[in-house]
Amino acid sequence: MTSWTSIEIATGADAAPTMVFASGETLFAPDALRDRIAALVGSTGFDAKPGRWLDLVGEAGERLIVVAVGADADHWRSAGGHVVEAIRGLQLKTARLPATAELGIGDALTDLLEGVLLHGFRLDQGRRDPVPGQFASTLLIAEEDGALADRARLRADPVNRARAWVEQPANLLTPAVFAGEAEAALAPLGVIVRQLGSAELEALGAGGILAVAAGSANEPRLTIAEWRGAPDRDGWDAAFVGKGLTFDAGGLNLKPRPGISKMKFDMGGGAAVLGAIERLALRKAPVNIVAIVPMCENNIDGKSYRPGDVITSLAGLTIDVQDTDAEGRIVLADGVTYAITEYDPGTIVDVATLTGMIMGVLHEDFAGLFTGDDALAASLTEAGAAVHEPLWRLPLVASMDYLVESPVADVSNLGAPGWFGMGTGSPVAGAKFIEKFAKGRRWAHLDIAGTGWASRRSSRCGPGATGFGVALLDRWADLATGR
Ligand code: BES
Ligand code: MN
Ligand code: ZN
Repeated sequence: MTSWTSIEIATGADAAPTMVFASGETLFAPDALRDRIAALVGSTGFDAKPGRWLDLVGEAGERLIVVAVGADADHWRSAGGHVVEAIRGLQLKTARLPATAELGIGDALTDLLEGVLLHGFRLDQGRRDPVPGQFASTLLIAEEDGALADRARLRADPVNRARAWVEQPANLLTPAVFAGEAEAALAPLGVIVRQLGSAELEALGAGGILAVAAGSANEPRLTIAEWRGAPDRDGWDAAFVGKGLTFDAGGLNLKPRPGISKMKFDMGGGAAVLGAIERLALRKAPVNIVAIVPMCENNIDGKSYRPGDVITSLAGLTIDVQDTDAEGRIVLADGVTYAITEYDPGTIVDVATLTGMIMGVLHEDFAGLFTGDDALAASLTEAGAAVHEPLWRLPLVASMDYLVESPVADVSNLGAPGWFGMGTGSPVAGAKFIEKFAKGRRWAHLDIAGTGWASRRSSRCGPGATGFGVALLDRWADLATGR
């Protein structure tokens, strides 16, 4: 079972070290304490740079911790992270926040608490021996702020669930386990979840997923999660298709040694679209959206598909497998086809850790956005900016169709001539490949290979899996359907 912990947020008024906040010259603290704290802060010469805090003793001997807050666009979520860092740095089992009315930060408390839950995230690693110095911590908030905390949980829990899946090692998160856990998480919320196994995929003719999965002892799954929040309206507003490679060894085009262990993260797109469905369901969003996640493992074996193989996809298009490591686009092709034939959705958005090269350009900061539809590009970009999951659009033009041409099949999964010379494949070629299967429909592709995993702290979370895409797609659902 994939499980995680975070800082516990509870309502209560127990005596515990009290956290207050300093941003430049401004103190967010209860009136009764403000002058006293200002004097103490002044006397210590505290430089309120984000990431620093000051541990003080108040007049009645009570402990006061002044946490510095920055002024960037996402500073309250970031401050939630600094609360976590202070709690852990000071080894506090309990800390408390004054009521928002006293702090004077209003609804920003929701952002702050979301930051606490996101930065407090830790995958349960299943250690026998506890890590020294690690223990559960509780943050107490005022009774009247309980609703804001609930709202923060609705936002953070699906993101943390997605992150836990992404960080869970591939031996523990097989396709069957991933599918089962998705069903267990979503079905109780009124989401209809279906899982197709090998036999069903064979009957269907999902030759892409089956070819990629052939080299693994772990059977593939195609997981479908339907959120029908507007049952009175016919049809499906959108389909979110997520790459769900529980491990990507590269197949016979085996990946080189450095970094291969990171490839447990290759189902980050699948986790993101399922997390988005969870958010929609939790807030009962009046939209009809289905998530489709091909789940499998790309491994090396006598049964593996081979470079040079020609396989037949679910759409009937043949694929020239020039590189078994370009497997994501192959399983997405079947996922997109399934979306079109079974759901006829108004829009298709696929999310995938597709190419290493996207990282060389957009780093961990922006996900690559590919679409021929300017309005869709605009709504996705707006949604991403609103939730601090930024996108950067890259070209997807007809004159680059040659990138995926093959002399032997309808489409090549590598195609691009050798002058890339960098050992990795072009993100544009990846998008071009998937575009073939989108059949001229309204469709966009998000390459999250860089943003799915963070090597540094951000306002959103600490290092590790980010859950990138969950908040973006949840927000986009409202923008795109005008609700
Ligand atoms: N899952 C990888 C993409 C990836 C690579 C993400 C490195 C993060 C870091 C994907 O399946 C892959 O292997 N892509 C190849 C494509 C190439 C063979 C056309 C790549 O990026 O090298
Ligand atoms: Mn690969
Ligand atoms: Zn991959």
